[in-house]
Amino acid sequence: MRKRIVAGNWKMNTDIESGKRLAAALMNLLSGKPAPLNVGVAIAPPFTHLSEIRKQIDTSKICLAAQNCASESSGAFTGEVSAGMLKSAGVMAVIIGHSERRSYFHEDHAALAKKVDLVLKNDMRPVFCFGEVLGERNAGIQNQIVESQLKESLFQLSEADFTRVILAYEPVWAIGTGVVATPGQAQEMHHFIRSLIIARYGNEIAEDTTILYGGSCKSSNAAELFSKPDVDGGLIGGASLDAAEFHRIIHCF
Ligand code: PGA
Repeated sequence: MRKRIVAGNWKMNTDIESGKRLAAALMNLLSGKPAPLNVGVAIAPPFTHLSEIRKQIDTSKICLAAQNCASESSGAFTGEVSAGMLKSAGVMAVIIGHSERRSYFHEDHAALAKKVDLVLKNDMRPVFCFGEVLGERNAGIQNQIVESQLKESLFQLSEADFTRVILAYEPVWAIGTGVVATPGQAQEMHHFIRSLIIARYGNEIAEDTTILYGGSCKSSNAAELFSKPDVDGGLIGGASLDAAEFHRIIHCF
């Protein structure tokens, strides 16, 4: 049975002390009421917090993720953080292709493919984000958009590499807006995504691929989203900054 995951993307929020308090509060809640069986929990704090939070969560089952990495492995790229650096900080997964990276930092398909590759080469798991913007959904071309995002940055991977990728479908119109995709819309798209994986990698790999939903997911809507057969969990932004709320989402399975 494929892994189900609830991952928190803290984005550019918290300083080191408040980030440590947030992680501690989550650990505390999980020691009282652990995640359901077969549900993995991940948090993606800002780069500056990673080493500290790594030490803090070492004894827990929480997976440490980063929010981005450079598309080059090393060299004169001032301000960038490489996949190898993240690995050495104890990171296990890296969010790649978040819509905020795509739109504000102009990350294109080719750069994202290089990032995915570097994350895999450094023995971490990419959490690959993709999804259409509102205009594309209104024009009815969301499937084509998603298909090209997957084909251009992910489907070059070998079978062995692809099995290590976690997908996160995040319709851009639902991110941070309070507008959530209906469970029906999420299921329809996740089912379509799985059909693309079947066509490229076959049934068995497609069945084992975790596909998260992201975009205004909270405890009041997560249970219905997670009840859909192709929705394997969530990538949670705003609601992951509140430990109790994030813990409630983990228990929406
Ligand atoms: P949101 O963000 O939950 O705040 O909408 C989701 C995301 O950007 O991953």
